[in-house]
Amino acid sequence: MQRRVDQSATISAAQLSTHCPDIPGTASRGADESSRQPGTRGATPRVLRCTAIVGARPNFVKMAPILEEARLRPNFCCRLVHTGQHYSPEMSASFFDELEMPTPDVNLEIGSGSHAAQTAGAMLGLETELSEHRPDLVLVAGDVNSTMAAALVASKLGIRVAHVEAGLRSFDRRMPEETNRLVTDVLSDYLFASEPSGVTNLIAEGIPQEKIFLVGNVMIDTLMRFRDRAAHTGVLDRLGVRSKGYAVATLHRPSNVDAMEHLSSMVEMLAELSRHLPVVFPVHPRTRERMQDAGIADCGLILTEPLGYLEFLRLTSEARLVLTDSGGIQEETTILQVPCLTMRENTERPITVEQGTNRLVGMDPKNILQAALDTLDAPTRFLPPPALWDGKASGRILDVLERSLGGRYRR
Ligand code: UD1
Repeated sequence: MQRRVDQSATISAAQLSTHCPDIPGTASRGADESSRQPGTRGATPRVLRCTAIVGARPNFVKMAPILEEARLRPNFCCRLVHTGQHYSPEMSASFFDELEMPTPDVNLEIGSGSHAAQTAGAMLGLETELSEHRPDLVLVAGDVNSTMAAALVASKLGIRVAHVEAGLRSFDRRMPEETNRLVTDVLSDYLFASEPSGVTNLIAEGIPQEKIFLVGNVMIDTLMRFRDRAAHTGVLDRLGVRSKGYAVATLHRPSNVDAMEHLSSMVEMLAELSRHLPVVFPVHPRTRERMQDAGIADCGLILTEPLGYLEFLRLTSEARLVLTDSGGIQEETTILQVPCLTMRENTERPITVEQGTNRLVGMDPKNILQAALDTLDAPTRFLPPPALWDGKASGRILDVLERSLGGRYRR
């Protein structure tokens, strides 16, 4: 396995570390079979000891508000484990810093590699970690390899799993994330859905209804908490663009960037768009590597390194248009009321199309360009935000856990 860990990705010493007492033997479902299902009573841990697992950039944004909410509740004690799937300062440490996350108690430093190597590396490290600390609950978020690895290990150790952002489905098994979602959900004991389609999908897959909770969107908790701070970043001046006078593009899905010819034509399409308005393109490391391999130049785009959370939030807030293949950006633009063109054939987040600013435009560069030009001419539609995307999803998650494990630990 290729291990690439940037040791300079240190985290501010001022950040708090988490401190959870280890109480071996109180945590596992194996130790107390009656506590396997949410809502049943079993052994009596006094404080709910959870281990939150993060690995990749979107995980940090989703887990940050839950950790913050847990920190404010005396009956929660969270240990934080970073698998190290993302390790560059701009993909990892900057998020811990800006989102005021605690320093991870441990970093497994799995680094980059094939899917099998990355998943296996995370599983081996997590097996040791979870066997040693035996939490009452493992918290995972989203659909990255680290998420699935954690769900597999925890489930086999008999530790309850809570999945944040459960039930999202693209129904496209070519996406590695779809496998991760399916596996994680089937192994989870608490499934926290961000939108109604998540609940519908889980029920259709036979997940018992009592395990499913529609709680809203934790990414929006983070967005709301940091939006004002993002306004002070000065990123627009730094990049030389003015409010509502530019587009932002992001591309990182294997389906868009791994085939050289397709990536080339996507960049050409963005270059063509930049004749109409400046296009800022923060380049994901996977995309940068592919562009270098294919000898693709900047073509008049404003290229940047991946931006930190605050700068990127500011940049998208003030954009005239966003073009992306990311999942989370579809949701953020819906709340920011910025038109979003999703350069994919499908989305696992249909509410952003039904009730938001998102439009699926496929992967044909000609169609994408036409859709972008049409959007520049059209008025933006303003709709109320989806239900429960209100900045309080993390609180609802912890309420559910408190209620469902009710009275089994100290208030
Ligand atoms: C991963 C997730 C994807 C998520 C994305 C957000 C999986 C299967 N995919 O994709 O769902 O949308 O994160 O970014 O888990 N690299 C660096 N520095 C880093 C991390 C990666 O340079 O800190 C480079 C490496 O060359 C690596 C490549 O980016 O091989 C891809 O990273 P990887 O974590 O495998 O997948 P992502 O494409 O980032």
